[in-house]
Amino acid sequence: MKILVLNGPNLGRLGQRQPAIYGHTTLPEIVGALRERAAVHGHEILDLQTNHEGVLIDRIERRDYDAIIINPGAWTHYSYAIRDALAASDVRVVEVHISDVSAREDFRQVNVLEGIPAHSVIGKGWVGYLDALDWLIAAR
Ligand code: DQA
Repeated sequence: MKILVLNGPNLGRLGQRQPAIYGHTTLPEIVGALRERAAVHGHEILDLQTNHEGVLIDRIERRDYDAIIINPGAWTHYSYAIRDALAASDVRVVEVHISDVSAREDFRQVNVLEGIPAHSVIGKGWVGYLDALDWLIAAR
């Protein structure tokens, strides 16, 4: 399985960005850990982090993967364009949020992706990405 790991705006600064909320682990470390675990099971990780919505949608439109793990960052709360792109991907989507969005600001209580991901991992820190991968492998 080729698994596309997508990270939206501001997630390229994981490790430095508000570590009290998002932890000290960097995105390259997370992707490295995913790649290692995926390889053990014979799967491949493709990855993209972008701060640009259209770039993310263009990547989803390439359809060169079998499943998606996505942390859409703030787009979660307002991007119908990302929702539509994920719905049109026709693959299993797993959503990850490092922080527990349900315990944060009101605007984070809105999730416009609701109903699209087959599974969500929320508030488990960076290891939530590994949980997402494990879920995808088990669901296959
Ligand atoms: C986030 C939560 C979002 O509300 C926020 O905008 C992010 C990160 C998380 O991983 O906890 O950028 O998706």
